[in-house]
Amino acid sequence: MKKRVAILISGSGSNMIALAESMRGDHPARPCLVLSNSPLAGGLAKAQALGIPTAVVDHRPHKGDRAGFETELLARIEEAGPDLIALAGFMRVLTGDFVARFEGRMLNIHPSLLPKYKGLDTHARAIAAGDTEAGCTVHEVTAALDDGPILGQARVPILSDDTAETLAARVLPMEHALYPAVLRRLCDGNRAPIYLP
Ligand code: GRF
Repeated sequence: MKKRVAILISGSGSNMIALAESMRGDHPARPCLVLSNSPLAGGLAKAQALGIPTAVVDHRPHKGDRAGFETELLARIEEAGPDLIALAGFMRVLTGDFVARFEGRMLNIHPSLLPKYKGLDTHARAIAAGDTEAGCTVHEVTAALDDGPILGQARVPILSDDTAETLAARVLPMEHALYPAVLRRLCDGNRAPIYLP
């Protein structure tokens, strides 16, 4: 039986594509759902083109009512019956109650070398701090933001003329390599962190 993976996105979905395209052939998992909190997410059409079921739970009608948003989110996810949930550029903070339901089964990719630079604007903060390297981290999702056990990290150099944009462009291909590698290893029951390159 293949494991079922739900992928949650908010934007262009390039990490979602990397994950979905990795789940082919003898891979032990298959994507069962791509869900976005934004109807405008470019990744939705890309998922449909790959034949993956999609859903939208728009957070905006639930402004100020996180529980209402998460109730709807949970309903769509449970319909798809995933074994694992991969957050891939999903830009909503989830409550501890929601996260607890999927303890050990929900992953996230964050564009920094955690524990550095939790939250937003990671690349600009790494440059401003004078760091000489940056990267990305795949971790288990826990109630605290960008804080769960680390399952993998990939590093890139920061160059003297880097901007947040040029650094992001160097990190993103590493995200696309790291996230599928971690997913594959996790599906095989191995939570030992992967370090790239
Ligand atoms: C990635 O950099 C991811 O690490 C961050 O948001 C970006 C999403 O990109 N959380 P995409 O939607 O996967 O193209």
